[in-house]
Amino acid sequence: MTRNLLFVLLLLNVFQLPAQQGKPAASTKAAAMNTFVSNLMKKMTLDEKIGQLNLVTPGGGVATGAVVSSDVESKIKAGSVGGLFGVIGVDKIRQAQDLAMNHSRLKIPLIFGSDIIHGYKTTFPIPLALACSWDTALIERSARIAAIEASADGLNWAFSPMVDIARDPRWGRVAEGSGEDPYLGSKIAKAMVRGYQGNDLAATNTLMACVKHFALYGAAEAGRDYNTVDMSLIKMYEYYLPPYKAAIDAGVGSVMSSFNDINGIPATGNRWLLTDLLRKQWGFDGFVVSDYTSVNEMIDHGMGDLQAVSALALKAGLDMDMVGEGFLTTLKKSLKEGKVTQQEIDLACKRILEAKYKLGLFEDPFRYLNHDRATKEVLSPDKRVAGREFAQHSMVLLKNEGQVLPLKKSGTIALVGALANNKSNMLGTWAVSGDAQLSTPILDGFKSVAGNAATILYARGANITDDSALAKKANVFGEKVDIDPRSPQELINEAVATAGRADVVVAVVGEASELSGESASRSDITLPASQLELLKALKKTGKPLVVVVMSGRPLALNWEAANANALLQGWFGGHEFGPALADVLFGNYNPSGKLTMTFPRNVGQVPIYYNHKTTGRPQQGKEFQKFRSNYLDVSNDPLYPFGYGLSYTTFSYSDIKLSSKEMTAAQSIRATVTVTNTGNYDGEEVVQFYIYDQVASVTQPVKKLKGFQKIALKKGESKVVSFTITAEELKFFNTALKWIAEPGEFKVYIGTSSSDVKVASFRLK
Ligand code: BGC
Repeated sequence: MTRNLLFVLLLLNVFQLPAQQGKPAASTKAAAMNTFVSNLMKKMTLDEKIGQLNLVTPGGGVATGAVVSSDVESKIKAGSVGGLFGVIGVDKIRQAQDLAMNHSRLKIPLIFGSDIIHGYKTTFPIPLALACSWDTALIERSARIAAIEASADGLNWAFSPMVDIARDPRWGRVAEGSGEDPYLGSKIAKAMVRGYQGNDLAATNTLMACVKHFALYGAAEAGRDYNTVDMSLIKMYEYYLPPYKAAIDAGVGSVMSSFNDINGIPATGNRWLLTDLLRKQWGFDGFVVSDYTSVNEMIDHGMGDLQAVSALALKAGLDMDMVGEGFLTTLKKSLKEGKVTQQEIDLACKRILEAKYKLGLFEDPFRYLNHDRATKEVLSPDKRVAGREFAQHSMVLLKNEGQVLPLKKSGTIALVGALANNKSNMLGTWAVSGDAQLSTPILDGFKSVAGNAATILYARGANITDDSALAKKANVFGEKVDIDPRSPQELINEAVATAGRADVVVAVVGEASELSGESASRSDITLPASQLELLKALKKTGKPLVVVVMSGRPLALNWEAANANALLQGWFGGHEFGPALADVLFGNYNPSGKLTMTFPRNVGQVPIYYNHKTTGRPQQGKEFQKFRSNYLDVSNDPLYPFGYGLSYTTFSYSDIKLSSKEMTAAQSIRATVTVTNTGNYDGEEVVQFYIYDQVASVTQPVKKLKGFQKIALKKGESKVVSFTITAEELKFFNTALKWIAEPGEFKVYIGTSSSDVKVASFRLK
């Protein structure tokens, strides 16, 4: 029977079901898929089955490992490739799909993936920035738009969302995730999966998502990329695993295993992780792909030779091997030698064919390849408009002394900094399909938003860094750091003279985009010295100093926080960052972002996060005390805590009202505050709700985020905001890894950041 005929029969069968009224029930669909896939597999040779497990990249993307695949064309024809990534554009994807459909024996379509991390060709703010919006609808929309654009360009699989919880800003990949909190991280994970996948994976404007990096990649020791992870199960379950679980619950189609080891077994070969936890406990039924050559990297982890590590990975539950071709080159031999079973190979193959089936690729392998859609959707103006909105909502105002912001759209403004008139660094890390040269620079954004009544002067002031060795590392994917032929002093002199002619100085400083991201760990997270010198010189002019920071991680901004009149964390905001920043600084948009990662005072405080435990010797007050848990040379407090962020207006919180002072596990309590906009601007506030379990059988953190609401308040307006406390909010993982609530005293906190809250107490009976 031909595949097309089989499809017709399956469809007929589906339509005959009386109760479905045209819509096949999930179980009918699953049965049809099963029949289709098992019939297909009956025709497949062992080599063809192993071929499905092979994911290759013909280059053109970013090779993050040692190798790029070779001889891709003949491998596709031989049925030795299951999917491709790093192939961009309808024509190229069609060419590759044509090789599979018209030149391979069984004509099994390829799946086409890409790193679609924060937008596709239209690039949005980095994920850490988007998270600071605390707006899950906005984040879902960003993923939806990316899916529309990427699928119109022929892709069907996104290597996103990245949901690794991270408490260590030395790690460069914090830029790709949502920050440190499992509750917020879980909400965002779900929103992104919904955004990419929509309700129907087979629709031509959705993508299959791939949650990564499973698991615990963000806990790499000392913030050094790919490093070891050794962690208690309670810590995993409570703090690090929830966002992956949330993505699974949202129906994510695929999972990417991580590079790191976990308690002695690399994630890619970790059966406990990939089978017991992911499939048996969590019920995941999609497929697992390795990270880039992470199968092969188990050789360096010390797990054996290529044959041994490939067998280990397959037996652990890995289905697809990214780039390394350990599966392709060794599994047949391992089968002969009894080191893997036919059943294990079949299972992996089946899961990949099922993913292709769900994407509708067997029905029409060319369904995503439509030039008209690509022309209409790729880089369309509406996407840039959305990108501007996303960037506005992602910035976090950290300081605004004497209301120096918003700026007036009049007088003279000195805009200073290498990053302020530079397109190359706007997109930030992992924007593999984004063309940075399509960005609107900040200087242009300023001129268009400020209008004719304001004079904008520009001076470069400093190089991003004067350290040529660091510049070289930042320039691996093209020039991000260019060194001006003038001396550092000449640059500063020009900036100081420019500041002298202005009413206010706006200095845009920070990292080059490749100073964060993969393999971009830093042990010093301060501003590069050249830019700090510039700020110090500008400060001496006595002009009001507004400092905007572009970075992919929290930086240690002590001098900046103490000396700038206003400080704004801008992150890397994507193509439209320039105009969006101008919108915020000139008050067209009142900033509403809140930090989702703690900003330390120095790197010695790291790891630092709000949901820490008390210790047996908690610090009392702010002063150093001998034999207490504190430092001799820095306070315990961060520079800026989780959840912190200012607005041009101010908000006041009433005391918390509780509907009851006690509850049973079957009951609930409503905690209510009234929030009032007490300032002079309309604004938005993220009202945050935390719980503290004061006595438990496992030590508990001082606070856990359990809810939040982002509300808009006109000036003078008040709103009542309520959160419901049920037993669910009071639960934790005990030593048996049971998710339980124990009776006792609790505190509820509601407020504007993790460290500025109202408090009330109640009891669980
Ligand atoms: C990264 C992944 C990415 C993959 C494919 C790896 O180096 O860790 O996040 O999806 O490359 O580009």
